[in-house]
Amino acid sequence: MAEINWDKLGFDAYRTRTVVLSHYKDGQWSPVETTENFSFTLDPFAQVFHYAISCFEGLKTFRQKDGRIAIFRPDQNAARMQRTAKFLGIPAPDKDLFIKMCTLCVQNNLEFLPPYGHQASLYLRPMLFGVHPQMQLVPYPEAYFAVICAPAGSYYGEHLKSFAGVIPGNYDRAAPKGSGSYKIGANYAATFKPYKTAHDQGYTELLYLNSGTREFIDEFGSSNFFAIKGNKYITPLSDSVLPSITNKTLQEVAVDFGMEVEKRPVRVEELAEFDEAAACGTAVVITPMSHIDIKPVLEEDKVEKSYRFMPDGEVGEVCTKLYKRITGIQFGELEDTHGWCYHIEEK
Ligand code: PLP
Ligand code: COI
Repeated sequence: MAEINWDKLGFDAYRTRTVVLSHYKDGQWSPVETTENFSFTLDPFAQVFHYAISCFEGLKTFRQKDGRIAIFRPDQNAARMQRTAKFLGIPAPDKDLFIKMCTLCVQNNLEFLPPYGHQASLYLRPMLFGVHPQMQLVPYPEAYFAVICAPAGSYYGEHLKSFAGVIPGNYDRAAPKGSGSYKIGANYAATFKPYKTAHDQGYTELLYLNSGTREFIDEFGSSNFFAIKGNKYITPLSDSVLPSITNKTLQEVAVDFGMEVEKRPVRVEELAEFDEAAACGTAVVITPMSHIDIKPVLEEDKVEKSYRFMPDGEVGEVCTKLYKRITGIQFGELEDTHGWCYHIEEK
């Protein structure tokens, strides 16, 4: 077992033992390679360097209460990567290859899978990128598909605690009819600078509006948005939002709880009416918002409006209930009635 303090894990680029790799060229995927070489050798003209032909997925593996190992909903990530790859014009692994390589990555890095009882998991990062050397802006059917992993605890250093969010009036995440609904690396590149500014001001998350009219909520920079109003679970319907697997799962859990799910355009002013508001995604599961400020210019002091949901650090009743149900299923403490856990053998 690796010497890791499982209770102190964050969300970091932790170097494990093995990378799992395949190369699509001449119409086929090469035999899957598990290697301890953490370096890729690529042509400097490779598509990925110049034109950002690159996408990724994120999913978690759990050591469950009864000792079994479960990857959470890998079929969903496989399908989303296929959709993104089609957008980028590169070949994607089919579902079987995707899940096979994720499974191999876990099996070959087992000493980094956190034991049960530490609220930690092994985070898998499947990545797909175009490697064909070229200058022209044309798709080419050549790509690397690699799966790496890292033991992960809490994304923000705390498991269920509310944080502050900010709507930056001078930044957009995705153009209308653009790439916002695909998990491409380029979508994140534009968020690094505003994230740094927001973090320096004590905000944890950036909440982006629809970039056309800026009337509706799209999503956070690294997660979807949802809100609770009475017995309703409300989440934005927008072409520019990444279809989050966590959000989809939470919607199903909300229905199980007898809640009504509304997936529809959500106006910014509605923030005043919500009982709870939160970010959701694989890495964070749920990050409740204590408050969300609107700043016309992120870099300036002026806060145009502030919507408060919870005292700092506190968490609403419904977010707590949803969080406990989803993590309970992931850790095998609660019955997996929907069949979300994909169990794998140790070897
Ligand atoms: N939205 C964005 C922009 C993300 O980066 C993520 C993270 O993966 C999500 C939403 C949440 O998606 P998922 O729940 O599938 O992890
Ligand atoms: C995830 O939640 O899996 C993510 O990919 C978030 C990451 C972009 C920070």
